[in-house]
Amino acid sequence: MELDQELGADELFQAQCHIYKHMYHYLESMSLKCAVQLGIPDIIHKHKQPITLRELASDLQVPPTKANCLQRVMRILVHSGFFATNKIHENQEEEGYVLTTSSSLLLKDSPTSLSTNVLAMLDPALVTPCFSLADCFQGNELTPFETYHGMNFWEYGKKNHEFINSLNEAMACDSQLVSLIFKDHKEIFEEVASLVDVGGGTGTLARAIADAYPHMKCTVLDLPQVVADMPETKSLKFVAGDMFQSIPSAEAVLIKSVLHNWSDEDCIKI
Ligand SMILES: C[S@@+](CC[C@H](N)C(=O)[O-])C[C@H]1O[C@@H](n2cnc3c(N)ncnc32)[C@H](O)[C@@H]1O
Repeated sequence: MELDQELGADELFQAQCHIYKHMYHYLESMSLKCAVQLGIPDIIHKHKQPITLRELASDLQVPPTKANCLQRVMRILVHSGFFATNKIHENQEEEGYVLTTSSSLLLKDSPTSLSTNVLAMLDPALVTPCFSLADCFQGNELTPFETYHGMNFWEYGKKNHEFINSLNEAMACDSQLVSLIFKDHKEIFEEVASLVDVGGGTGTLARAIADAYPHMKCTVLDLPQVVADMPETKSLKFVAGDMFQSIPSAEAVLIKSVLHNWSDEDCIKI
């Protein structure tokens, strides 16, 4: 029996919507990146009240012929919860854009900003290899990243300083946000005298831990190109090395945002 006889039209239309939603989903990611690149969250924040499309377009110096495109991008971003619309004056119909909690995390100068992460994770060097995803299941032994770049992620990072620096910066921003947890849950590491952050990057999280728990000795283990010349303190040391070879000893081992990069076998080794 044909599918359209087996299932009602409503159910098929819902399935069609589902497919289209995911087919166009990249436009949400790209609109998010566009908002960060243009600094739209900062413009709205500085405006201190709901900003109209006209005001936003003028601030961005968008030519009148493109105002319609800006409206479409803003509509996507409102739909996906990055901005909301509010009335400008209570008794008038005119509406303007305001920040949501998500876009307040995209303000560039905020200590908990994730704007760097959006730019780093949506960099063409990471996004373009996704077009090779199917190839790696069809006789291609390489990962999509290797197929596109002709080398693995870590080799690419060694050769492309700007790329690896922006990823390290993004990870540091993520850790800055995560470290807010010590404000509300001080008990987490109270009993721990020493800690090693394995693959701890440039040490943002370890530094926050060392600040929150002055009694603790913290060590960050990461690759030489990441930890070279990192400033140390009395309670924070950096060790350049390979986590597959050895891990400095400590009472607690912290591994954040590392294991997802490795196979199950490698994770067991680590
Ligand atoms: C996704 S980042 C996470 C960084 C940090 N833990 C964080 O959450 O911000 C993964 C880290 O693992 C490090 N790494 C990769 N291979 C490593 C190895 N063999 N030994 C030690 N660190 C390694 C990378 O240099 C990078 O800093």
